[in-house]
Amino acid sequence: MSQQTPAGALRAPVEAERLAAYPSLRARSVFVTGGGSGIGAGIVAAFAEQGARVGFVDIDAKSSEALCAHLQAAGLPRPWWERCDVRDIAALQGAIARAAAQLGDFAVLVNNVASDDRHALEEVTPAYYDERIAINQRPALFAIQSVVPGMRRLGFGSVINLGSTGWQAKGSGYPCYAVAKSSVDGLTRGLARELGRERIRINTVSPGWVMTERQMRLWLDANGEQEIQRMQCLPDKMLPQDIARMVLFLASDDALMCTAQEFKVDAGWT
Ligand SMILES: NC(=O)c1ccc[n+]([C@@H]2O[C@H](COP(=O)([O-])OP(=O)(O)OC[C@H]3O[C@@H](n4cnc5c(N)ncnc54)[C@H](O)[C@@H]3O)[C@@H](O)[C@H]2O)c1
Repeated sequence: MSQQTPAGALRAPVEAERLAAYPSLRARSVFVTGGGSGIGAGIVAAFAEQGARVGFVDIDAKSSEALCAHLQAAGLPRPWWERCDVRDIAALQGAIARAAAQLGDFAVLVNNVASDDRHALEEVTPAYYDERIAINQRPALFAIQSVVPGMRRLGFGSVINLGSTGWQAKGSGYPCYAVAKSSVDGLTRGLARELGRERIRINTVSPGWVMTERQMRLWLDANGEQEIQRMQCLPDKMLPQDIARMVLFLASDDALMCTAQEFKVDAGWT
């Protein structure tokens, strides 16, 4: 999984046969937002490898097509995907409905999409703030609204919301992103009780600093390398599949009584 990505070269891969397989995920329908690259692509690949039926949306057609081609070449079913800008809620909900028509009611939703563009406090306008919220916060609730009727029909479901340890570690340079990401736990805990009555679980997975292509291209420099060594308890760099493994667990029946919680995967940073 994702060992073909440049990030994979950062660490010796763990052989697939040493990692868990989840029979409960076989043929389960899963929807991922922002699944075309980065952690989302790692999550899409991880579910595909478990034999799940995966659908995703992304704005980046090139990466999304490359991911699908890569999975197909590996002998896995090609995921369903559509180009969609999640700032457009009607488009997002339309895509989820079309994907469900193809793949069946979704038992798993992974709210992954986000954009951690940097911005200075002085430069933020109301329009920019709204636009950041439109990517980093708003899609999750509306995606949940779309999948819950199907989960109700199935009699169970698992929603996994991607949070962040960045704001918890007082990361700077992205206050609008921090506002949105700190609200993820509120969404998780604010819905857990009503969804739980219908055996729909909802949890937050909060990554530490994960070496996606974007992170390495834009933000990882010599200072960052030193910070990783200083802040993480574990010396190795984090990869998308480290987050995907936690997401798989929470999506599976192995996590049947886990809900309303935040699970951090940050190599001990926070
Ligand atoms: N990488 C990290 O170190 C890190 C740390 C903490 C939290 N996270 C969280 O993990 C999740 C994934 O992060 P990532 O680093 O893989 O992000 P990324 O930027 O690498 O990937 C995000 C994906 O979303 C897509 N996307 C962006 N804007 C979109 C839009 N308007 N409509 C549809 N798709 C859009 C991108 O094309 C991309 O495929 C996010 O929720 C992020 O907040 C990541």
